[in-house]
Amino acid sequence: MVLIKNSRSRETEAIGSNALPKRTQVGIVGAGPAGLLLSHLLHRAGIGSVIFESRSRREVESTLRAGVLEQGTVDLLNETGVGERMRQEGCVHHGIELRFDGQRHRVPLSDLTGGRAITLYAQHEVIRDLVKARLDAGGTIAFDVSNVSIRDFDSTKPCIRFDRGGTTRELACDFIAGCDGFHGTCRPSVPAQSRTEYVRHYPFAWFGILAKAPPFAPELIYAHHARGFSLVSTRSPEIQRLYFQCDPNDAVENWTDERIWNELQARLTTDDGWEMAPGSIFQKAIIAMRSFVLEPMQFGALFLAGDAAHIVPPTGAKGLNLAVADVHVLATAFAEYYASGRKGLLDQYSALSLERVWRAEHFSWWMTSMLHRFDDDPFQNQLQIAQLKYVATSRAGATTLAENYVGLPLATPVSDRTPIWRGPCAGATPHRLHSSDASLNRSAT
Ligand code: FAD
Ligand code: PHB
Repeated sequence: MVLIKNSRSRETEAIGSNALPKRTQVGIVGAGPAGLLLSHLLHRAGIGSVIFESRSRREVESTLRAGVLEQGTVDLLNETGVGERMRQEGCVHHGIELRFDGQRHRVPLSDLTGGRAITLYAQHEVIRDLVKARLDAGGTIAFDVSNVSIRDFDSTKPCIRFDRGGTTRELACDFIAGCDGFHGTCRPSVPAQSRTEYVRHYPFAWFGILAKAPPFAPELIYAHHARGFSLVSTRSPEIQRLYFQCDPNDAVENWTDERIWNELQARLTTDDGWEMAPGSIFQKAIIAMRSFVLEPMQFGALFLAGDAAHIVPPTGAKGLNLAVADVHVLATAFAEYYASGRKGLLDQYSALSLERVWRAEHFSWWMTSMLHRFDDDPFQNQLQIAQLKYVATSRAGATTLAENYVGLPLATPVSDRTPIWRGPCAGATPHRLHSSDASLNRSAT
């Protein structure tokens, strides 16, 4: 294991020569966007945390995934001091293009949403910024740990067990945050009878490529075509990200570069002769599509966030943004608990987060259903075209897409009359939703 810890840390009690803390307030499993941002927000609220990550720092910082950040995500990263590089290197987009029937239709996101926009900034860059911020602030991230398991999270003495240098160790915590993604260990640790899982599988996957090329278009293109869906995105003026619908059982080896460019050109063709100049492909991957929601997102002292609790098909660009929204609520709830001893918001974490999760699940399913080819079903195809025409020509239709795509504001839950040590079985307490966030903008001392 590589333990990276800045010696200025005052957040945790170090033991022995290896500087690993004996206990922490919030033990976090997973150094993806959810785990890292949670740790960062907790630090700003004066709350200690330790992150356990099974992969190396290099792997975590180089895994290529999301690219689209909602306005609320961008605002939160900026407000909490980790947005500097994003502001310099990210690219703000004010619209997207829908392409179908050989025609292009612009959806003017910002005009329809009072000026809100999306920012193209790769997920691994967000991760680099957050890892740096945590380490600069003295945070502890244990990379390369193995056999991580969570223990006693239905008691008042939860702990995280892990292997390190050939020995098994434990870290005692007040709470555990399961931020270990869809294939992590935290969700399956919840007893099966205490969780409900909602699942939808899709009969297709995405073939994703990264290519060295100048941008193919000024804004993202979501294209519906009889051959299947395709998406033109970007990472930088030199690197482009493209996807096209494929068979989930297909193999990367079946697709030569030439075949990929021909397929993309065929699906993106327009009546006015749009053409793409092939670039140099340096990464190919097939990405599964599914929708998944776990309810509830908490169990005892365990709180699940991000992909550990829910998955969306990437057509709505929502996964990372949902992870951010989850940990924003969770950090606010921990801040309230540690400031006042009140557990009201913590008890409500799952209910508050699931409101947004289900909205994003619907939007992602809707975008997926509108744009992909389904089993040569001509009826479905006509419905898709009717829906696309409605979005392209009706302000109401376009606004529905735009406000979901740029993302609803990140609301901060505030409970002002929550009883102290309120149990999870007590009746619901009404919460006001505020869009400002005083507790998290405060720096830790
Ligand atoms: P993850 O990023 O999966 O991080 C979990 C971490 O936990 C990982 O580092 C993992 O190594 C670690 N871990 C797992 N198990 C253990 C264990 N047992 N012990 C310790 N550590 C463990 N979302 C968007 O918002 N916008 C987009 O444009 C977008 N595009 C996407 C495109 C593609 C092709 C894909 C695949 C996804 C896209 N997403 C997008 C979704 C987004 O990438 C995910 O939703 C996001 O990574 C979720 O973050 P997370 O922190 O919850 O989980
Ligand atoms: C991406 O750039 O990776 C991307 C863009 C839009 C999506 C999904 C992924 O809907």
